[in-house]
Amino acid sequence: MNPVIENLLTRRSVRSFQKKQIPLEDLELILKAGSYAPNGMGLQAWKFTAIQNPQVLKKVDDVIRQVILSTPLENADERTLRMIERAKDPNHNFLNNAPTYIIVSHLKDSLLAMADSALALGNMMLAAHSLGIGSCWFNSLPRMTHHPCVRQLLTELEIPEDHIVYAAGVFGYPEGDIKPSAPRKEGIIKIF
Ligand SMILES: Cc1cc2nc3c(=O)[nH]c(=O)nc-3n(C[C@H](O)[C@H](O)[C@H](O)COP(=O)(O)O)c2cc1C
Repeated sequence: MNPVIENLLTRRSVRSFQKKQIPLEDLELILKAGSYAPNGMGLQAWKFTAIQNPQVLKKVDDVIRQVILSTPLENADERTLRMIERAKDPNHNFLNNAPTYIIVSHLKDSLLAMADSALALGNMMLAAHSLGIGSCWFNSLPRMTHHPCVRQLLTELEIPEDHIVYAAGVFGYPEGDIKPSAPRKEGIIKIF
């Protein structure tokens, strides 16, 4: 099979990682692949922030935990209650102890931002897979991007003040078996 198509068909979300770090040259290739994604009007208005420093990874985990623990309990749905329980567990890591975390930020008021960011992270995940590196989109930081604690973190990470987080993913060498993909649903493809 064409290796590009094979790479597309065999990528799976990976949520369990070895401690081994992704070498810098591979990380740079992954980020480069992201930067070549299609983007509205060719503006490249995004920014990719890759974190490998364990202290900075811990800071991201701490901020996610802090935001979850500040959620008002009234009106919390089941998923939120589960997240709060996890946040109370000091052993739970919201980045699944992945050695590398990539944040895709983009202009807060741009109609193109979500699509640009998703395509960029998608490219990075596919590039990673082609290098034997697993990844998973983790939506926690994008979901809480408007929280003041997250803004403070983004500022520390030199993410522009007019940016918010649209996409973020954990990356690393897979640990354990990777489940085969779910069968594709009937009727999702139609050719006229
Ligand atoms: C927009 C988006 C948000 C996602 N958020 C999460 C998440 O917060 N946590 C998680 O474990 N997986 C998350 N995923 C991964 C999906 O669950 C996964 O892609 C899907 O189940 C299909 O599995 P596959 O990637 O192995 O094909 C997200 C994926 C996308 C595209």
